[in-house]
Amino acid sequence: MSTKRTTPLRVAVLASGRGSNLQAIIDAIEAGQVQARIVAVISNKKEAPALDRARKHGLRDLFVDPKPFAGRPDSREAYDRALLETLRQHDVELVLLAGYMKIVTAVLVSAYANRMMNIHPSLLPSFPGLDVQRKAIDWGCKLAGCTVHFVTEGVDEGPIILQAAVPILDQDTPDTLAVRILEQEHKIYPRAVQLFAEGRLRGDGRRVFIEGGKPVGEAVISPW
Ligand code: GAR
Repeated sequence: MSTKRTTPLRVAVLASGRGSNLQAIIDAIEAGQVQARIVAVISNKKEAPALDRARKHGLRDLFVDPKPFAGRPDSREAYDRALLETLRQHDVELVLLAGYMKIVTAVLVSAYANRMMNIHPSLLPSFPGLDVQRKAIDWGCKLAGCTVHFVTEGVDEGPIILQAAVPILDQDTPDTLAVRILEQEHKIYPRAVQLFAEGRLRGDGRRVFIEGGKPVGEAVISPW
């Protein structure tokens, strides 16, 4: 059932790099297409351009240094405990991984079950992991795309929320394909956040149903 919120959804974005998905979400919020407020942009990389983007828009940018946790047997969990504390301090309701290149542990996954999303540049469950545009081309796929999914402990394995497909062209390189996919990422990630904000995502096992809507139908299903 869709629920009308009286205050904007409190979102944190975790990003390690360029931050173009962060930017797409910021732009959609500023354009009034997404009823959310980014209360923190957090990175494990001090120099992440994503943090610059946050600062430019007056958002709180936080670098959480992994170094103090390195070397201990529970280094990843300890890091996530520090992150969790930060998320709780800011009353974060939804966590968005946007080019966050660190595997999240059960510490975060269980605290934010069904409240943490990731964007991945393939049509999952095909091609989890890294360098996936190259893998899709090398496999001979005709379609590639992107997936927004809830985060579970298995990497790139959580329930799928939205996907968009693009064609793979004969002359594609991983870079040209990545550009075409990224364009779709920038559409479906803000859309998924807005669906969450509207309370329209209903999970049933692995499936996520979108209540009260129909597909927008603009992505390529078959180019031939
Ligand atoms: C995006 O293509 C995103 O899908 C991918 O990293 C890029 C980050 O770009 N994420 C993953 O591969 C996660 N497995 P951005 O920093 O410009 O948003």
